[in-house]
Amino acid sequence: MCGSCVCGGGAGGAAQDEVFGEVADAMTVEMHAGLASEGGSKLKMLISYVDNLPTGDEKGLYYALDLGGTNFRVIRVLLGGQEGRVVKQEFEEVSIPPHLMTGSSDDLFDYIAEALAKFVATEGEGLHVSPGRQRELGFTFSFPVRQTSISSGNLIKWTKGLLYRRCGKSYLPLTLTFCFLMPSQSLLEVNFFILIDNGLYSFVVKAVICIMRVGQDVVGELTKAMERAGLDMRVAALVNDTIGTLAGGRYSNQDVVAAVILGTGTNAAYVERAHAIPKWHGLLPKSGEMVINMEWGNFRSSHLPLTEYDQALDVESLNPGEQIFEKVISGMYLGEIVRRVLCQMAEEAAFFGDTVPPKLKIPFILRTPDMSAMHHDTSSDLRVVGKKLKDILEIPNTSLKMRKVIVSLCDIVATRGARLSAAGVVGILKKLGRDTVKDGEKQKSVIALDGGLYEHYMKFSACMKSTVKEMLGEEVSENITIELSNDGSGIGAALLAASHSQYLGVDES
Ligand code: GLC
Repeated sequence: MCGSCVCGGGAGGAAQDEVFGEVADAMTVEMHAGLASEGGSKLKMLISYVDNLPTGDEKGLYYALDLGGTNFRVIRVLLGGQEGRVVKQEFEEVSIPPHLMTGSSDDLFDYIAEALAKFVATEGEGLHVSPGRQRELGFTFSFPVRQTSISSGNLIKWTKGLLYRRCGKSYLPLTLTFCFLMPSQSLLEVNFFILIDNGLYSFVVKAVICIMRVGQDVVGELTKAMERAGLDMRVAALVNDTIGTLAGGRYSNQDVVAAVILGTGTNAAYVERAHAIPKWHGLLPKSGEMVINMEWGNFRSSHLPLTEYDQALDVESLNPGEQIFEKVISGMYLGEIVRRVLCQMAEEAAFFGDTVPPKLKIPFILRTPDMSAMHHDTSSDLRVVGKKLKDILEIPNTSLKMRKVIVSLCDIVATRGARLSAAGVVGILKKLGRDTVKDGEKQKSVIALDGGLYEHYMKFSACMKSTVKEMLGEEVSENITIELSNDGSGIGAALLAASHSQYLGVDES
């Protein structure tokens, strides 16, 4: 791994800096290509139909639904306009029972709509919409969607290994995995797995009904389910989590120009000038701006410092060839990369002794939060590392020397991910012409950041921020701020529901 130019500093540092600069440039080039034509780049550069971001004037009671994985959140926000800002905010987190992850989309959306209806029923004192008004919802759906308007769109594909999760948590698929997704009317999906369950290997063919097929109308499904649940609510805005984060960030800081998610998956959105989007054939928005969901997880370039471990992970994944940037950066994969390197060290260099620890062969057994805990171990004997190896991988005795090697490995993998995400941010700033100081002008640019990886993996976030600074230089960096926008996407979706309300201009009182 060390030999393959992924380290942050140390020997060969200058050459590596160049690599990240090239990645930033490639990102800018691909952004142009993705904006020029549909399918012009691996970067989808999806048009969000959000052409006006929150101003602070939003007023009234709005709901948001945040669906991005195995759980969802329902949110209620009372917006007070200029005087009050967010007057009150309530939310509830609901996990999706595993059988619904492999059930029909109707079952899943019925479950969500019923939870939403129950939540609506708990509206307290002063938390009502005016009589005769329909409740309105901002729907955050954290998967790629081709939007047809601000409140409609079709699923492009599943990402973040949702397919793994849909196959049930108790099974761990081994290396041979084929998945046939049949986007036909039958909504049938057939998976061939070699499974390991309680140490027993078996070959299993599993047929599951997709929770939603590619191409399906996301809002249509939810709306029908809300009707079935007797809930009179309208989806006013359908947004990606990056767009929600951007809107939430802009609400508290008007200098926010982009948002990045670094969590299970990774992605970015930013505000583009409408005339710089050749593939946009609609009317020029009044604001002259349009928010773009980049889907940067799917970025790829010959400049990416990929290793044999990344290639193997990709080939064995359920979406080979796709989401390559995501596979080297995001929380879903970092721990798995470390596991793969350790496995090879065990097999080829007898790192853990004569035999390869059996648990080390199980894909995804080492999660990124565990990797982070090892990486942050400050004890002199690295006892956290020792405990994780024992508890997770059932490796009882490790020397201090071995533990040190493992911490270095975590550092290499996290540093590469952090520096690549920084390169992505610099690519966006370049596209916006905000990577230089023009005529001494101090133009502030704020990037809103959200996601568990950024929030909890401190060495990752610190490295990401310092790399952005390093790449832009002292003078430019003074004008760039990376700001944690904790949970911005929920409130952001509610704000966008408010700014796209059917009652806009109608007096609230
Ligand atoms: C995945 C999804 C994307 C989402 C990101 C972060 O990359 O494709 O839509 O924004 O994860 O949740």
